[in-house]
Amino acid sequence: MILRLTLLERLLHRLHLLPTPVMDTFGGVLFGRILALGVRRGVFEAAGAGPCSAADVAARAGLDDRAARLMCDAFVVAGYLRRTRAGYVATGETRKWLLQDSPRSLCHLVGYFETLYVRWQQIEHSLVHGAPARPYYEGFSSADWETYVLGMRDLARVLAPFVMRHIRLPAGPGRLLDVGGAHGLYSIECCLRRPALSATVMDFPQAVVHAGRGVQDAGLAGRISFLPGDFMNTPFPPGQDVLLMFNIIHGFSPETNRLLIHRAFDALQPGGRIYILDQFQSPSKGSPVSRFIPLMVGLNLLNEIGGNVYSMEEIRAWCGARTLVRNHRVGLPGVGLAEIALQ
Ligand SMILES: C[S@@+](CC[C@H](N)C(=O)[O-])C[C@H]1O[C@@H](n2cnc3c(N)ncnc32)[C@H](O)[C@@H]1O
Repeated sequence: MILRLTLLERLLHRLHLLPTPVMDTFGGVLFGRILALGVRRGVFEAAGAGPCSAADVAARAGLDDRAARLMCDAFVVAGYLRRTRAGYVATGETRKWLLQDSPRSLCHLVGYFETLYVRWQQIEHSLVHGAPARPYYEGFSSADWETYVLGMRDLARVLAPFVMRHIRLPAGPGRLLDVGGAHGLYSIECCLRRPALSATVMDFPQAVVHAGRGVQDAGLAGRISFLPGDFMNTPFPPGQDVLLMFNIIHGFSPETNRLLIHRAFDALQPGGRIYILDQFQSPSKGSPVSRFIPLMVGLNLLNEIGGNVYSMEEIRAWCGARTLVRNHRVGLPGVGLAEIALQ
């Protein structure tokens, strides 16, 4: 996090004596771009392999020497690198999130954010009209789809341990439908916990093509199948015990979400449950980060697909009176899990 203010600076900030718009519109935006570029070009891998000079980083990442020094020094100030006598080294923050072989690596997710920066060039159009000229995926190449799916998988890896403890899976044989399941990681996690569970991942064909490998590597090719297509006009297979709609509702209008949820009810077995994972808006409660990130996600989704960020209360209203909606807290600020059962 780049803005760590000292006590004095916090006081100055309160007195409106710090020109915060400079940090937000200049430092914050530029730093995000440089960080993503540093990940893509291997700056952090270089520093992760041992102390290295700016010249080593420049050679490894194919950068100008002076540029590499400026970047590394900025990463030091922001807490991603440490400068020692022997050279720059990766901090714990970087080792956890930004190195490729970390189990919690967000490298693909950061790569996906780089693709967003391109589309943010057109965000003014979306802010004026409430939606982009065309949805994000219409301009996607196969490489963009892969970046997107792997980026979502990075995020899912971080969230899965928190999410899985709230998902009630059938003890015996059962079926799970993962609507917009992309990488299939949540289906994999569920099937690994229940040997008699089988799952179907529904998503666009361009997405699921990048998911098969993970399913195979988990040894679940016989139990997890894919249903490629547009879920808006492909019927949900019936008889489901568990239906996941993870990071889906933020792409659609309230009317469409109400419809999707009621289609999901129709696909459930008696006693089955729907789980909705998303960023949730709670304008007055929670820490600044947990209120701010959902709003940024909402603005981004508006620009991606005319989407939005919703509240738990809106989900309750879409579900109707004969349902029980439980709100589970999940590990990341602003993220929530709604568990929905028909009464
Ligand atoms: C934000 S990603 C979430 C992926 C995954 N559920 C997760 O939480 O990590 C949304 C997924 O929904 C898929 N999706 C969105 N609209 C869809 C539609 N109309 N038909 C099929 N898939 C769709 C996208 O392709 C994408 O893989």
